[in-house]
Amino acid sequence: MKPKILVARRVFPEIIEALRGRFDVEFNDDDRPWPPEELVRRLQGKSGAMATVMDKFDEPVLAQCADLKVIANIAVGHNNIDVPACTKRGIKVTNTPGVLDNTTADLTWSLLMAAARRIAEGDAWKIAFGVQYFLGQDVHHATLGIIGMGRIGQAIARRATGFDMRVLYHNRSRLLEDTERRLNATWVERDRLLAESDFVVVMAPYSSATHHLIGAREIAMMKPTAILVNSARGGVVDDAALVAALKEKRIAGAGLDVFEGEPRINPEYIGLANVVLTPHIGSASRATRLTMCRTAADNMAAVLEGREPRNPVN
Ligand code: GLV
Repeated sequence: MKPKILVARRVFPEIIEALRGRFDVEFNDDDRPWPPEELVRRLQGKSGAMATVMDKFDEPVLAQCADLKVIANIAVGHNNIDVPACTKRGIKVTNTPGVLDNTTADLTWSLLMAAARRIAEGDAWKIAFGVQYFLGQDVHHATLGIIGMGRIGQAIARRATGFDMRVLYHNRSRLLEDTERRLNATWVERDRLLAESDFVVVMAPYSSATHHLIGAREIAMMKPTAILVNSARGGVVDDAALVAALKEKRIAGAGLDVFEGEPRINPEYIGLANVVLTPHIGSASRATRLTMCRTAADNMAAVLEGREPRNPVN
């Protein structure tokens, strides 16, 4: 008998087809997450689950899923899953690192440039020209500050070379000198990065340690002409503090792909001209999302077939 698995969110038909060769598959054919009671009900008898960052696997859900052996997240981040609780219950968690770095770096740059050059406002306006219309910030020769210099942070830094930018970064651990030189990036204390950067890009994973890493105090340290970009995780930036700063024009703008309490969004962002919003599409190129799904499927199959998965989280 094939192992039973659940795909908690709509994915590509070819992924479901491939999974069917190895598993007895039940899947969500909708883009809406199942409420916890429905998720639990559908997980009964399932030994594997493929999930997205919006599907919450917390202790109350896990406690009711005795058959579950693996949760394969279709994401590099895994703050939707209570990993220690999974470990305690012998549930393996996997993710999809490495395959989305360049795609996410591209989107981060799209947000940075859209906010800097007021692309969304211009698109809404459509026509007419004025010497003083839609004046923005220069990207070239500006200072880019990256908070969180993992693989994606480094991919963002590499792209700054073409814009002749000065690159500052802050990370718990410093990069090797060689890597710093290759990226032309200088490690600085976080407060100095905030004070000197024209563009502050947040690329830190969410955890209790990074909750509101950028709050009212940090925003107050930024230049009034600066732009904040977050394509990492909601909750790393304090949305209420950012809304207040944008409303009072204490910074020039923001580009956001992630929000506290997703898929909801702080309604105060809507209608603000100085923020560009996208719906968590950092890794959303067709090629990359397909690769993420295939990676998650392979990780799940490895666990269910008694092999070590390529991307274990616990
Ligand atoms: C997307 O948000 C991811 O963590 O891969």
